[in-house]
Amino acid sequence: MDNYILAIETSCDETAAAIIKNGTEIISNVVSSQIDSHKRFGGVVPEIASRHHVEQVTIVLEEALNQANMEPKDLTAVAVTEGPGLVGALLIGINAAKAFAFVHGLPLIGTHHIAGHIYANNLVQPMEFPLLALVVSGGHTELVLMREHGIFEVIGETRDDAAGEAYDKVARVLNMPYPGGPHIDRLAHEATEAVPFPRVWLEDGSYDFSFSGLKSAVINYKHNMDQRGEEIIPEKVAKGFQDSVVEVLTAKTVRAAREFHVKQVIAAGGVSANKGLRAALENAFKAEGIPFYVPPLKLCTDNAAMIGAAAYEMYQSGIRGDLAMNGRPGMELKSWK
Ligand code: KG4
Ligand code: ZN
Repeated sequence: MDNYILAIETSCDETAAAIIKNGTEIISNVVSSQIDSHKRFGGVVPEIASRHHVEQVTIVLEEALNQANMEPKDLTAVAVTEGPGLVGALLIGINAAKAFAFVHGLPLIGTHHIAGHIYANNLVQPMEFPLLALVVSGGHTELVLMREHGIFEVIGETRDDAAGEAYDKVARVLNMPYPGGPHIDRLAHEATEAVPFPRVWLEDGSYDFSFSGLKSAVINYKHNMDQRGEEIIPEKVAKGFQDSVVEVLTAKTVRAAREFHVKQVIAAGGVSANKGLRAALENAFKAEGIPFYVPPLKLCTDNAAMIGAAAYEMYQSGIRGDLAMNGRPGMELKSWK
């Protein structure tokens, strides 16, 4: 019998619902973005995010069912992002999922947001193991090794800022609106020259990352130029910053792919929408002869389809949540097998 999972995602600033068939096929995928409400504050305001989720969650849920032309009785289970994320925002999705599951007598599955980002790839082509995932988003920068479905080993992570966070902060220095990543990406591509910023490699052999030093280098550069009464060229700064981020992310991903003899490399999370990063990874893995994939833009940034894709594998492993489920803002990525 076919499996249909209704998934809900509200961990940050997108209210999203989707229906996924057998873990790999998108039947409907609805995302309501709040970015415009947060823009004027230069970042996501948790209280505003929660209020938007309250207003939107039942609307996106109904829309997901309508677009799929399905009724609750056609569903196999309800999945929801349990963490990590903003606690108030998570709770809105969790309570909606609990109520829906309870009323319709459906099993409930609590999913990790990053597992979702990784599993977005399973909606595009089958995941092959061992698999290496570079997860780069507003809250995360991680290299995750998967030897099979449901088994995650975090082999490297950021020691300070996430890559997306660094993008957003540097964009602020350049007077670009939130979220800054796409603006820096665009400026970097318009540049012909780059300000030489440092590459942070950390200790020999480490797969960890650090972006706060790079961010400070950009801020210092701006201050020094201001003090000298010179204008900065935003394109040049953006390219200098992006070149540093992309070079370090790519080099460490390639080294890990070689060390663990992976069969597939995937990029996930909002920053994987970055054109410079995509091109660098594509070229590097073409040279390595290892298949490399990034999901289409819509599945890179926050969405519920990816939560449904991960939840399907959890469902197959017999994982079920219950009505005591709570939001877990600092939830770790743990294996479910
Ligand atoms: O995965 P995501 O939608 O939300 C989180 O779970 O964090 O990622 C959002 C992040 C933001 O920091 C945004 O600036 C960044 O992804 N981003 C980009 C690009 N598009 C989005 N960063 C660099 N280049 C882009 N093209
Ligand atoms: Zn995300």
